[in-house]
Amino acid sequence: MKRACVIGWPVEHSRSPVIHGYWLKLHRIDGAYEKEAVQPEKLAGFLGSLGERGYTGANVTLPHKEEALRLASIADEAARAVGAANTLWLDGAARLNASNTDAYGFMTNLTAETPHWNDGRRPVIVLGAGGAARAILYGLVAEGAPRILLANRTRDRAEALSQAFGPTVEVVSWEDRERALAGCGLLVNATSLGMTGKETLDIELAALPADAVVADIVYSPLETPLLASARARGNPAVDGLGMLLYQAVPGFERWFGVRPEVTAELKAHVAATLGGA
Ligand code: ATR
Repeated sequence: MKRACVIGWPVEHSRSPVIHGYWLKLHRIDGAYEKEAVQPEKLAGFLGSLGERGYTGANVTLPHKEEALRLASIADEAARAVGAANTLWLDGAARLNASNTDAYGFMTNLTAETPHWNDGRRPVIVLGAGGAARAILYGLVAEGAPRILLANRTRDRAEALSQAFGPTVEVVSWEDRERALAGCGLLVNATSLGMTGKETLDIELAALPADAVVADIVYSPLETPLLASARARGNPAVDGLGMLLYQAVPGFERWFGVRPEVTAELKAHVAATLGGA
């Protein structure tokens, strides 16, 4: 039996077991996907004994993503550029490899939902400068976004990302975020605002072109206030759950040997576990 897990602290909220459990059942694979709550000071020991614990690989979630990258061999440019790992696997030589599939997840979902998001080669505006924003910027730059405007409450964090990703990424002040929407083809919320229990993202969309895509990384609730106001004015809206589902695909294929599909049925199955949230 092949086994994988998600490692976090806390880990209870993770939806990964629902996603991988669905695919294991669908493909009738003799496998398991478990939750492992691991304290930060115990991460190195846990990863060092991953194989002995019977695991072939793992997902890593907060707060372990950066440390996991340091403890493993970096397997792809995305992980190196983002500075964080979310997918680990042991190879034939029992070496632990790390990749980051968050950018892949975001870009694959965006392209599946709105294939023409970059046809006009208009600027993209990204809100937020945390780990999620970093992965999204990497993905957008790699996929040829011509110009990215980056706004974050703490400007220094946005400046650091602009430094890291080069002149394509230009910092705009958090206070100027509404004005900066003019002429953009894509708006991405990469902050945690709008999530159940957090404040709402305060942004008036009036300046955003009517055909611009609005994407949110928040998936609980699935329909955030941002996405609802985008839809109300006719903008195509892309929710955060799709990113979560697509980021899981490469890991599942590595651990269990089948490339799974993201379907409407899977999405409905995972969305149902989000409850009324
Ligand atoms: P993650 O790694 O998941 O992206 P994070 O590093 O905590 O999480 O980043 C959360 C993002 O939401 C940040 O961009 C944060 O802005 P700051 O860098 O200024 O902290 C943003 N954010 C959180 N609460 C916010 C608020 N009330 N107003 C504006 N931005 C907020």
